[in-house]
Amino acid sequence: MELSHKLAIIGYGGMGIWHHENVAEKISAIQVKGAYDIREEAREKAADNGLKVYQSPEDLFSDPEIDIVTVATPNNFHKDYIIAGLRAEKAVISEKPVTLNSAELEEIIAVQKETGMLFSIHQNRRWDRDYRIIKKILSSGRVGKPYFIESRVQGSRGSMHGWRGHKINGGGMLLDWGVHLLDQMLRLVDAPVVSVYAHMFSIFTPGVDDNIKLFLRFGNNVSAVLEMATNCFINLPRWHVSCESGTVVINGWDCDGKIVQLKADGEMTWEDDIVYTEAGPTRTMAPRSPGTTAVLPLPDTKTDWTEYYKNIVDVLDNGAELLVKPEQALRVMNIIDLLFESEETGKSISCEI
Ligand SMILES: NC(=O)c1ccc[n+]([C@@H]2O[C@H](COP(=O)([O-])OP(=O)(O)OC[C@H]3O[C@@H](n4cnc5c(N)ncnc54)[C@H](O)[C@@H]3O)[C@@H](O)[C@H]2O)c1
Repeated sequence: MELSHKLAIIGYGGMGIWHHENVAEKISAIQVKGAYDIREEAREKAADNGLKVYQSPEDLFSDPEIDIVTVATPNNFHKDYIIAGLRAEKAVISEKPVTLNSAELEEIIAVQKETGMLFSIHQNRRWDRDYRIIKKILSSGRVGKPYFIESRVQGSRGSMHGWRGHKINGGGMLLDWGVHLLDQMLRLVDAPVVSVYAHMFSIFTPGVDDNIKLFLRFGNNVSAVLEMATNCFINLPRWHVSCESGTVVINGWDCDGKIVQLKADGEMTWEDDIVYTEAGPTRTMAPRSPGTTAVLPLPDTKTDWTEYYKNIVDVLDNGAELLVKPEQALRVMNIIDLLFESEETGKSISCEI
């Protein structure tokens, strides 16, 4: 089916242009028709790129040809545009973080239920290869059950840039990358979150968090550490997962990494393997006897981000199940509310989310 849907973009900046280019190039069922932006230069850019430029959001929402609206403004404007779009009977896709907190998202979900229109959040990192590899390994059970999962993104460019450095815009690392890492983690561990703790710093960007560490404990006794940095000059692996019969490491976006698996038939001895630190001996921390582990490559994993928009089309045309559901984003936002509270109080918070 060719170009059966018409899409308009609100917020024609970095991500708005990305949606335009990628949907136009890769999603045959959607024509990107137009855009609205408050900035004159952005509107000119949209016109240069062949789009119809709407003079106001109302102008865009009242175009009967448009059936899908993608919202890619700074975070604090998402809620009002999403609600206006749903009320104008458009399917609405919002960039992440969908809102600044769970209360805002609940308002949207009420309008979505009332209107019955499609509403989804662009959680595109579900299609990142590193995450897909971890998901594949854990689902296969080949290294047994996980018990500690560590997920990190670490940069060294200092502060959060542009509007991301302002609280009023929904800036800060927890709302920027936190939503991605939390969304991924909730899809890796099939159990409720039973406690959260956050330690967040504003090293370069007063008023918003720019270097953060989050701790989640799940009801099945799996723990997760999520870390996001702008001031890290020696990175830890993107993923480090401790499982009952092995360890998985993915070093970075290029998915260099390995699995070290315990061999079922490899017998460990304690007798000869002692190492000495400067001040004494240790058996516990001595390396394992050679031959008791095997080093395996990471599995080959295909991933295709276009599934996101193809699913939107499939929901609209065939009533397929929506892949990224508002309720899933609500779970993330409920956890984010508690993480901000934990940072404020310095305490871990029990929950059932
Ligand atoms: N999913 C991802 O991988 C990903 C990556 C980057 C950004 N994002 C998200 O996309 C959104 C936009 O981020 P960005 O990096 O493109 O920012 P940006 O600053 O590059 O672009 C934002 C655009 O919105 C416009 N704008 C601001 N206020 C507006 C308003 N009230 N009405 C209409 N337009 C308005 C600005 O003029 C600008 O052109 C954010 O929610 C961000 O979190 C997602």
